[in-house]
Amino acid sequence: MENIRHIAIIMDGNGRWAKKQNKPRIYGHKEGMSRVKEIVQYSRNLGLDVLSLFAFSSENWFRPKSEVSFLMALLEQYLKSEVAELKENGVKLNFIGNIKKLPPNVCKIIEQSLRTTEDCSDMLLNIALSYGGREELLSAVKSIAYDCTTGKISPEDINDTLFSNYLYTKSIPDPDLLIRTSGEMRISNFMLWQIAYTELYITDTLWPDFNSSEFAKAIDNYNSRERRFGKISEQINGEQ
Ligand code: FPP
Repeated sequence: MENIRHIAIIMDGNGRWAKKQNKPRIYGHKEGMSRVKEIVQYSRNLGLDVLSLFAFSSENWFRPKSEVSFLMALLEQYLKSEVAELKENGVKLNFIGNIKKLPPNVCKIIEQSLRTTEDCSDMLLNIALSYGGREELLSAVKSIAYDCTTGKISPEDINDTLFSNYLYTKSIPDPDLLIRTSGEMRISNFMLWQIAYTELYITDTLWPDFNSSEFAKAIDNYNSRERRFGKISEQINGEQ
């Protein structure tokens, strides 16, 4: 697709979905994983360049231990069972966040899946794990400060492009569309720098119900908008 290259999703509402059916929260996460598979496949068929999924935030570590363990196990299961098919479909994996904080078995499968899919180039599946936007910004600022003190760069060199290259998302285009499921009107510390001009789509649909047709609806909605990047309509139309 030409006008949409990168879609980012805050997958929210697994717990509420389970609660509505008097089931434990983990039941919602399990169903959520099925939607991950469906949306990844749909994005690949659509010809999207990048799909970013917020799977586990730096704050999610504070959830009950049993839920954290379940989510880690689910992630391991997803990577183990899907990596061959992802490779076959030309999907390259990438992970953003404080990956070192994850349990060793998850780190190991992450490394393996990165290696397995490293030559794929049809779509990038960018999974945010133990991710926090402020943490990402602080880590970039620290590296920039360090490179200034060693003389690698000078403060005058710091601009948008240079700053972007110090983020976890280095070389990934900014999201065109950010979808959040389950109706919460917040960004929750996701890609704070990258979403400066991103279009937002918030739906009441809970993540386990967010199927391909809900996804298509979000993209249709995006396609009906005019992105002006701070300019006026006539300027944008003149550039086309
Ligand atoms: C938010 O719902 C969801 C999460 C914190 C976890 C997302 C994980 C998955 C969709 C499954 C595994 C992911 C991959 C990439 C294989 P919530 O628990 O905050 O729901 P609530 O707000 O209703 O409580």
